[in-house]
Formats: sequence, C-alpha cells, structure tokens
Amino acid sequence: MRILVTGGRGQLGKELKRILVNEALFSGLNGDDGIIPLDITNKESVEQVVQNYKITHIVNCAAYTQVDKAEAEKEKAYLVNHFAVKTLAEISEKYHIRLIHISTDFVFDGNKNTPYLEEDEPNPLSVYGDSKLAGERALITKLSNFVIIRTSWLYSKYGNNFVKTILKYSKERGYLRVVYDQVGTPTYAKDLAEIIVKIIPMDEIKGVYHYSNEGVSSWYDFAKGVVEFGSIKCRIEPILSIDYPTLAKRPNYSVLSKTKIKRELGIEIPYWRDSLEKCIKVDGIEF
Ligand SMILES: NC(=O)c1ccc[n+]([C@@H]2O[C@H](COP(=O)([O-])OP(=O)(O)OC[C@H]3O[C@@H](n4cnc5c(N)ncnc54)[C@H](OP(=O)(O)O)[C@@H]3O)[C@@H](O)[C@H]2O)c1
Repeated sequence: MRILVTGGRGQLGKELKRILVNEALFSGLNGDDGIIPLDITNKESVEQVVQNYKITHIVNCAAYTQVDKAEAEKEKAYLVNHFAVKTLAEISEKYHIRLIHISTDFVFDGNKNTPYLEEDEPNPLSVYGDSKLAGERALITKLSNFVIIRTSWLYSKYGNNFVKTILKYSKERGYLRVVYDQVGTPTYAKDLAEIIVKIIPMDEIKGVYHYSNEGVSSWYDFAKGVVEFGSIKCRIEPILSIDYPTLAKRPNYSVLSKTKIKRELGIEIPYWRDSLEKCIKVDGIEF
C-alpha cells in the first residue's frame, strides 16, 4: 500500500500522522516538516503526486471546515468540499485507488430524535453541510472503491476546536454560557484515526459509515466535561441557541448511529466522556 493522507496539518490529519508517520505520505496546503505541499483543488498537482508516488490509497482529511465563515465564502467551501472531492474521486477511479473520505453530521437537518442511520435522507441547513453533501454525492457517482465516514464534533490536542476554546475561556473568564438545545456526540480525532487505519486495507468495507464516540451530549454537557477534566473552576450557564445566534444554522439533533460500523468492523467505541478525559488528562492538550 502507498497511502496519501491529505489535510495532514489538520487535527485528524495530525492524529493519523502519529500512527502512520513511516507508512504514509502526508500533504497539506503548504509543505513543512514531513508534509508535501498539495492543493487538492489543483487537479494536475493531485494527479502528479499520485503518479510520482504510485499512490494506491488516499485518505482525504482536507476540507474547508469553518462552518460560519462558509456562509460568506460559499465558493471557497464548494471548491474544496465539493469540486476537489469530485476530482479526487475521478483520479482515484482512473488509477484504481481506494479513497477514504471524511464527511459530517451537518449533512442532516436534525429533525429526527433517534440516531441518524447511513441511509437517512440528508438535508443540510448550512453552506458547509451542503458543500460536504455535494462532495459525498460526486464521489459516490464517480468511484466504486470508496468509504465515506461521517463524523461529528471532532476535537484533539491539535488545531482549533471546542475543547481548546472552552479550556482557554473557562480559565480566563470563570463564567461561560453554552447552548444546551443542540445535541450530538463529540468525537476524539485520535479514536477516529485508529478506525481509519483499520479500514484502509479492508477492501470489503465500502460505502457510507457513521463514526463518533458513544453516547449523547449537548454542547453544554460537553463544556461541563471539559472544565471537569481540566480541573478548572468555571460556572457554565446553559442557554438556548436562539440566545447565541451564529451565521450558519446547525442541526438541533445530530447523533449518529454507529450500529453498522460496529457490526462490520467488530469494534467497540469509547464513550465520549472517557475519550475526553483521556485527551485532557492522559494525552495532554495545550491551549
Ligand atoms: N472539525 C469538526 O468538528 C468536524 C466535524 C465533522 C466532520 N469533520 C470533517 O472531518 C474532516 C477533518 O476535519 P478536521 O477538523 O481535522 O479539519 P481541520 O483541522 O480544519 O483540517 C483541514 C485541513 O484541510 C486543509 N485544506 C483546506 N483546504 C485545502 C486545499 N485546498 N488543499 C489541501 N488542503 C486543504 C487545511 O490546511 P491548512 O491547515 O493549511 O489550512 C487543514 O489542514 C473534514 O473532512 C471535516 O469536514 C470535522
């Protein structure tokens, strides 16, 4: 296997790099230590890398991930999350590459109140969610050997994420207001990275899968967990999302069903609070 991981400087890309450092080629928008430069919106560059390194597997962790900014930067979001994914799929089909692509719970509208299944009808509420869904659909029509993993509320010691934001502001301010009427499941990117590594060589695993940590949480519960495991004294007030307006609309309920991935891979998935505790107390997180 000759594996290319795109988005190597993002939080999921970096978790994969820790595991696959000597077994995969990592690319990022800009190159630096151990990462080659590759803009996935540039078809010629992607094809050149695939040919030069005789790539057999791609894990696409590159994405436009700024959910609120995407409302104003629509073109940019679609370029990376839709058109570049279509290109990756076309190149993968041409060179018989297996493509593992990461998508999001934000493809759903949140009108359900039981965990979302892979076959549930998407109906994104935001530009980000719509651009990710367009990428999924383009990929599915162009390629047969693919896996799309939809995940939710990603965090890790790398990059910018909710956990780091709460750690920082809870320490600085001692009082925070966090929404409690949006419910989903946090996902430790390190747990997801381990599953991706398992899936890469499994040719029998194809199609759409959901993966997050186990359990259900509101952003308020998530924030409470962060300050608890970070041993920070901070009062957190639960508020309604109507009192915390954001540019992008988010689903009120986006819990993903993991039944399919657990059954087909024979895995158990860690409970979100256990993974959060591990990330903060054992693996360490700088903020
Ligand atoms: N974060 C979440 O809460 C969340 C939730 C559900 C699903 N997801 C999905 O999970 C995947 C990984 O997310 P993440 O949180 O690890 O993302 P991230 O930390 O924002 O990393 C994304 C990476 O993509 C790179 N990138 C952006 N445009 C590019 C381009 N044109 N060419 C090459 N690279 C490009 C960025 O490079 P620079 O660093 O140089 O800008 C960045 O390193 C994404 O598909 C995302 O949609 C994320």
